[in-house]
Amino acid sequence: MMADTILSVKHLQKKFGKFAALKDVTFDVHSGEVFGFIGPNGAGKSTTIRTLLGILRASGGSATIFGKDVWKDSVRIHEHLAYVPGDVYLWPNLTGGEIIDLFLKLNHQRHTSRTNDLIKQFELDPGKKARTYSKGNRQKVALIAAFSTDADLYIFDEPTSGLDPLNEEIFQKNVLALKLQGKSILLSSHILSEVERMCDRIGIIREGQIIETGTLTEMRHLTRTLITVQTRQALPDLSATQDVHNFKRSDNTPNKASFSVDSDKMDKVMQTLASLEIIVLQSTPPTLEDLFLRYYQKGKQGDGENEA
Ligand SMILES: Nc1ncnc2c1ncn2[C@@H]1O[C@H](COP(=O)(O)OP(=O)(O)O)[C@@H](O)[C@H]1O
Ligand SMILES: [Mg+2]
Repeated sequence: MMADTILSVKHLQKKFGKFAALKDVTFDVHSGEVFGFIGPNGAGKSTTIRTLLGILRASGGSATIFGKDVWKDSVRIHEHLAYVPGDVYLWPNLTGGEIIDLFLKLNHQRHTSRTNDLIKQFELDPGKKARTYSKGNRQKVALIAAFSTDADLYIFDEPTSGLDPLNEEIFQKNVLALKLQGKSILLSSHILSEVERMCDRIGIIREGQIIETGTLTEMRHLTRTLITVQTRQALPDLSATQDVHNFKRSDNTPNKASFSVDSDKMDKVMQTLASLEIIVLQSTPPTLEDLFLRYYQKGKQGDGENEA
């Protein structure tokens, strides 16, 4: 059975005057998954999310959450949705604790023991006025309210940009706990390691367009694995071989080399190496960062063959 679609965005467009911030954004979030929405600053992540929340009206295309139109049915959608913006605004003269309770009340939720537990986990001092809070503390207030909200879909727009690594870990732990409960999560981020660790599927956005969607495994045809190898027999020069890149071999030790290889062409290269009798082989799998860089270089260079 196909997973239920919680959120569906089709050819979404958004213009600010003449400027097209979103040109063609298409992706789905399925029930029970963490979907990572990644792209650099200015790519259109927040604009997409604000449109999904019914704050902005799309100029074209369509978007639904729980099968309802995000613009026309936003009130009903918000009854089952929790959201944390990247830049959290708080009432300066209320305390963090008061604001958490206010957020919960606005979402028809109650302050529970879970709320207290989250305040402890994030080590927030809820008695201080919000105007004294750092960016990180303001984010914590919004995160605590969101995580203690019982929703079906959680939308986080770069929620950890002001958090230190310990709190980032607490954020990740709570997202994974939601996932275990079968909740759906849309997480925009430019922190690739975070996305890599937590997300089931990824959508990459560049200049208002989704350029790739899928699991990291599905994107393997775009990635390269780094190989360091030592063989008993001397290695031939593989630099001319298609699928092999950055081939390096010193003249003194012709049985040692390092190179990168297109991940879906590993098989062929391994056969060649095996025939030369492998002594040592180290393979470093591609990271999301490599993949991301290739995409962005592809955009700039036009062919994706640029080597750093
Ligand atoms: N209200 C607005 N008016 C005009 N331009 C905007 C507005 N909001 C965003 N933009 C522009 O749209 C583009 C996408 O912005 P944004 O969605 O905030 O990107 P991201 O969240 O990926 O960093 C940027 O070029 C930004 O300057
Ligand atoms: Mg943004």
